[in-house]
Amino acid sequence: MLQSIRGMRDILPGDARRWRIVEDTLRRILESAAYEELQLPLLESTELFTRGVGEGTDIVEKEMYSLTDRDGDGITLRPEGTAGCVRALVQHGLLFNQTQRVYYTGPMFRYERPQKGRYRQFYQVGAEAFGLAGPDVDVELMLLGRRFWQALGVEHLVRLELNTLGTPATRAAFRAALVAYLEPLRERLDEDSRRRLDRNPLRILDSKDPGTRAVLARAPQLPDFLDADSRRHFANLTGMLDELGIAYTVNPALVRGLDYYTQTVFEWVTDALGAQGAVCAGGRYDGLVERLGGKPTPAAGFAVGLDRLVLLHEAVHGALDGAAADVYVCVLEPGHQGYALRLAEKLRAGLPGFRIRVHAGGGKLKNQLKRADQCGARHALLVGDAEVADDAPVLKDLRADLPQRALAVDGIIAALRAGVPD
Ligand code: HAM
Repeated sequence: MLQSIRGMRDILPGDARRWRIVEDTLRRILESAAYEELQLPLLESTELFTRGVGEGTDIVEKEMYSLTDRDGDGITLRPEGTAGCVRALVQHGLLFNQTQRVYYTGPMFRYERPQKGRYRQFYQVGAEAFGLAGPDVDVELMLLGRRFWQALGVEHLVRLELNTLGTPATRAAFRAALVAYLEPLRERLDEDSRRRLDRNPLRILDSKDPGTRAVLARAPQLPDFLDADSRRHFANLTGMLDELGIAYTVNPALVRGLDYYTQTVFEWVTDALGAQGAVCAGGRYDGLVERLGGKPTPAAGFAVGLDRLVLLHEAVHGALDGAAADVYVCVLEPGHQGYALRLAEKLRAGLPGFRIRVHAGGGKLKNQLKRADQCGARHALLVGDAEVADDAPVLKDLRADLPQRALAVDGIIAALRAGVPD
């Protein structure tokens, strides 16, 4: 049997409903904060990510789905949305002397080892704010996160961690000091960290290996390298968070896996999903617009991992009502199919939000009612000779033992709206 590719999941009808609930909630909240939707291509030039995300990152080194197209150009399935978003806004001149607050949703692709909460095709809802340098925007982004978790009822499962990486100069000085300290101790590091020492040494800080952690205990600390402006930015940020009652912990090991970050970085993490703890992550990236060919523009954003948020929603709310339809129209004579279809159209017009399915394929009433039951419908409408002659289908409650009644269309609409058959 043909199977889906490893790490690529089918989201089946029952689950897709939960996805829609979760995604719609995030969209509604982003729209309410006046973030505007943007749709971006899945394929971008490979160079966008090597330049944007960074050569030495895990993503660019070993996780990208890259190929050469028929013209010989290097193209890549987007592993994240920020670089493409910046590319688009620069390309269309939308950052020139203006601020932008935008969001996007959709699949991202990374060749990672699949496990619960980690997939090769996964989905993000990302938000980005451009042209705003102050920590108030960082706070706005965190407030959006808090509203997401509250609206979905998962706020007790996620907590906010943050850190500051300072300016690119801070990072460079710290990086040099870290490498100088670690180089003589190379043999005591785990294999991954030894590799990172040459390519992306800051990532060693979030190694979980006990030997590496012991070496790190006496390593130089990033806060000691921060300049006055960076300290002020971070102090203002934490001050505002305190004022707004947003709880957080400062995690000096939080360095993020993408190269573009400056100043604030943050993650909303959970313990409820095993090893894949980050549900949403982001930060400030004041240098990226310029690095991708635009004018220097401060920027900050985040991306929510929808797959993980959906798992959290399920952990809290359990199974959703699995019904596929609310009303099932049974057609007792083949000649009445047209009547049934017209009836369903009138009901759909009069009952927004109701899901009305018309039986197809004939068969006995008993079997049709079985189908109605299988799709979880609460009500059946019976269309037979007498019902068509009187233009009054019979409404039947499939859950409660109530008398069934023949009603005109308006009566059916009123009864279903009221929730009881009368
Ligand atoms: P990221 O930390 O690479 O950041 O990804 C953001 C979120 O996407 C993660 O916290 C996680 O929830 C989810 N995610 C990442 N990889 C996977 C995976 N393989 N399977 C399932 N979920 C995953 C970024 O992508 C940045 N572009 C975020 C950002 C926006 N920073 C500034 N603006």
